[in-house]
Amino acid sequence: MADSLETTRKDYHRANLIFSQLPASPSALLEEWLESAKECDPEDYNAMVLSTRALGQGANSRVVLLRGIEEGTIRFFTNYESTKGREIAAHPHVSCLFFWPQLERQVRIKGCARRSEEEVSNLYFDSRPRSSQIGAWASKQSQEGTELELEGRLAQLTEKFNEAEITRPPFWGGFDIEPIEYEFWQGRPSRLHQRYCYRWSESEKTWTKHRVDP
Ligand SMILES: Cc1cc2nc3c(=O)[nH]c(=O)nc-3n(C[C@H](O)[C@H](O)[C@H](O)COP(=O)(O)O)c2cc1C
Repeated sequence: MADSLETTRKDYHRANLIFSQLPASPSALLEEWLESAKECDPEDYNAMVLSTRALGQGANSRVVLLRGIEEGTIRFFTNYESTKGREIAAHPHVSCLFFWPQLERQVRIKGCARRSEEEVSNLYFDSRPRSSQIGAWASKQSQEGTELELEGRLAQLTEKFNEAEITRPPFWGGFDIEPIEYEFWQGRPSRLHQRYCYRWSESEKTWTKHRVDP
């Protein structure tokens, strides 16, 4: 009989972390894990789930792409007027999550998001393919509308820009998340997984490490 949701089981065994050997900085460990993830999945290794507090009740999650780690901050790009953009403006505390099944690893990060420097957003926008630049102008991300309306705006903008340089829309750019907590999860046999955490101490300006039960 085929496995069902109730019977599918996997035992995790790919790696065994040594707590005392973890680097002092969690972003160094994140970069190390990203490198390994890239080897297994060069196209999607930088996809992360970003969770925000909803404007009404509850929370919202969606996938975004990690576009850089700059002095420990986690950067992604989006439409500032989207649901996530408005939620972050109202409540900047967010959570990011990476899951790399091939490595049996998960990383959870809690942090505070702020808009990236304009120059950073401009540089990244300029590096995007022209079609994505027009797409950023055309999409009223998260707003209700028909495909026909979107296609109409795309056609209009394509004609308007013609061969001119396309500058970044003011409503589109980066967010930099300043982490305050990390949890690195490594799958282990018999569900005795490893969970190693880092917490930022603002008074001591340093990261402290601890372990929690699986
Ligand atoms: C693999 C993948 C990568 C994505 N990357 C981004 C991204 O970098 N930025 C973005 O705004 N949306 C990205 N999206 C779309 C978001 O998941 C989401 O649908 C969109 O941002 C609207 O979310 P919101 O309504 O909560 O603001 C991605 C989706 C997937 C599946």
